[in-house]
Amino acid sequence: MARAPAFVCSACGASFGKWSGRCDACGAWNSIVEEEPLSAGPAAKSLGAARGRRLALSDLATEEAPPPRTLCGIAEFDRVLGGGLVPASAILVSGDPGIGKSTLLLQAAASFARKGLKTLYISGEEASAQVRLRAQRLGLADAPVRLGAETNLRDILTTLEAERPDLVVIDSIQTMWADHVESAPGSVSQVRAAAHELVSFAKRRGVSVVLVGHVTKEGQIAGPRVVEHMVDAVLYFEGERGHQFRLLRAVKNRFGPADEIGVFEMTGAGLSEVANPSALFLSGRESPASGSAVFAGLEGTRTVLVEFQALVAPSPLAQPRRSVLGWDGGRLAMILAVLEARVGIPFAGLDVYLNVAGGLKVTEPAADLAVAAALLSAREDAALPSDTVLFGEISLSGALRPVAQAENRLKEARKLGFKTAIAPKGTKAGAAQGMSLRTMPDLVAFVGEMFGAG
Ligand code: TYD
Ligand code: MG
Repeated sequence: MARAPAFVCSACGASFGKWSGRCDACGAWNSIVEEEPLSAGPAAKSLGAARGRRLALSDLATEEAPPPRTLCGIAEFDRVLGGGLVPASAILVSGDPGIGKSTLLLQAAASFARKGLKTLYISGEEASAQVRLRAQRLGLADAPVRLGAETNLRDILTTLEAERPDLVVIDSIQTMWADHVESAPGSVSQVRAAAHELVSFAKRRGVSVVLVGHVTKEGQIAGPRVVEHMVDAVLYFEGERGHQFRLLRAVKNRFGPADEIGVFEMTGAGLSEVANPSALFLSGRESPASGSAVFAGLEGTRTVLVEFQALVAPSPLAQPRRSVLGWDGGRLAMILAVLEARVGIPFAGLDVYLNVAGGLKVTEPAADLAVAAALLSAREDAALPSDTVLFGEISLSGALRPVAQAENRLKEARKLGFKTAIAPKGTKAGAAQGMSLRTMPDLVAFVGEMFGAG
């Protein structure tokens, strides 16, 4: 029987019988590529009537000790893992090419090796000499990491079987080549097969495996997305190319909180940890400028202060610009609409630019109030007091809603020398501890107090 061509979405891995411009499963455009099917179609066969083995079921309340973890000593990395590395865990670290994944993982591998884990670093992208050179530059040449440069999965698995390391780094999953799959390295089938083999090996043999995956904004390289389902933890390594800051963000973690971030700075000698990101994100702040508002935010388990910057200018365009960096465009539109409809402050005919300083991405609705403050401050050309932080979610009615962990937000702000906090009504004054806390029920009250009448 002739094999039917298979079409696979490189974003989500769904397969189809025919090509289409848009993936029905995940909605991505132009992501469907033709691929050699894995075999003559195992999915088409049914399990049949043969009996399986009966499972041994257990109670929920068995005494299970938490998994032992190894801390590598790079605190930012350990935290993102959820408090160190769990044995036999599979982790995907993905990010844009050139962002610093190899650097980060070489540093982490060296630290784990120094803590006594038997560590292998397999590079499919660079020759051993290149990796050694980088290790020297990073001052890691003496770390007991064993190095290999290989792309053949069969050889790698044989090596792992013989070496039995505690941890192996595979840099990168796109370069791996499984000879039982008839498609080119980097294709979805290859990436999926290689990841599957490595992850099942990790589980079977108690080895922790870290897979490096490249993604591009266009999703051009066959997606590590298909790998995300197979692994225990998915960490995104991100940052703006022009900035030195790099964020390691846990977007999935079976062994710890997701949304945890680690902050690094790319220096001439590799990545260094940033223990106090608030100070970093606020560092370039010119005081007091109009259009600037400081938000006390939460990133995972910690509080981070970030500056929102807005610029509002008359627009020559029929449809004025709305440009956002580090914040959600739809959310900005909502806040502009609420300001217009509930407070009577229109932005029609005005271009609006909104940035989060330092290249951080903020996703919390708790930042609404700070965004509104930055927009109003820019529009009125009136600077907010520079020692003021804000937080609060804005509802469509214009009311301010209390947010989670107000106490921690206030604590961080106080630590960094802020004197005043503006927060939704209902935020406990006791949390302010020496700061002056001004609570407000809605945007109308906020505008009245901060910018005179609305
Ligand atoms: P790399 O780790 O190779 O990125 P990736 O593996 O994600 O593709 O590093 C990319 C960039 O980092 C490279 O352009 C040079 C820069 N870099 C430094 O600035 N300092 C350093 O110490 C190192 C090793 C790299
Ligand atoms: Mg690399």
